[in-house]
Amino acid sequence: MSRRRAAIVISGRGSNMSSLLSAAAAAEFPARFVVVISNRPDAAGLRHAAAVGVATEVVNHNRFSDRAGFEAELDARLRAHDVELVCLAGFMRLLTAPFVESWRDRLLNIHPSLLPAFPGLDTHARALAAGVRFAGCTVHLVRPEMDSGPIVAQAVVPILPRDDEASLAARVLLAEHRLYPFAVRLIADGSATLVGDRIVYGAGQSFPEPALLSPTPASPSLAYRCG
Ligand code: GRF
Repeated sequence: MSRRRAAIVISGRGSNMSSLLSAAAAAEFPARFVVVISNRPDAAGLRHAAAVGVATEVVNHNRFSDRAGFEAELDARLRAHDVELVCLAGFMRLLTAPFVESWRDRLLNIHPSLLPAFPGLDTHARALAAGVRFAGCTVHLVRPEMDSGPIVAQAVVPILPRDDEASLAARVLLAEHRLYPFAVRLIADGSATLVGDRIVYGAGQSFPEPALLSPTPASPSLAYRCG
């Protein structure tokens, strides 16, 4: 199997980056991360990537007078590493349509909500304020409109009665760490493909059947399952 050359683009902590790098440490993972690029020189994720032997680069957005200049440099670095797939992982800059279109269907993002609900920032606070009973995360192909694009995979977590922003963010983040490698695998090995503007899955893919209820019914026989 030839593993697809991939990049990760970050701005900060890089915990999703770390989960991708860990998954790709397995020889059978269908993608190989050849570079991690940060727009911030102080991103903590850069140190971790270097420590596990992955090439790192900084394209500092502050050094460019406009977005076009920054994106041209980012694009040049990605192409210099000959990557086929780019994973945004906590990358905190908006990308313009020309950049997004030039990487169309090869650019993935993870967002900490069940898109199309709660795009943008402060997703957990907004989910709590809205009183929704489930939160989660989404990996999607990137389109020019913020946090939009064909959904590759989602993970759902319950919102518990005593949750605050921090506890909910922590629960969602654990799900993110499982979801992103799973989604990259689906794309990289071809078991998820784009038909029109929706993702479809190959025959080998299995799906969870039972419904998840929140709050959990008191009866143990109904707990977490219905139908
Ligand atoms: C994650 O919640 C991700 O979904 C969002 O930004 C956060 C980045 O965290 N886009 P990390 O840098 O991966 O730890």
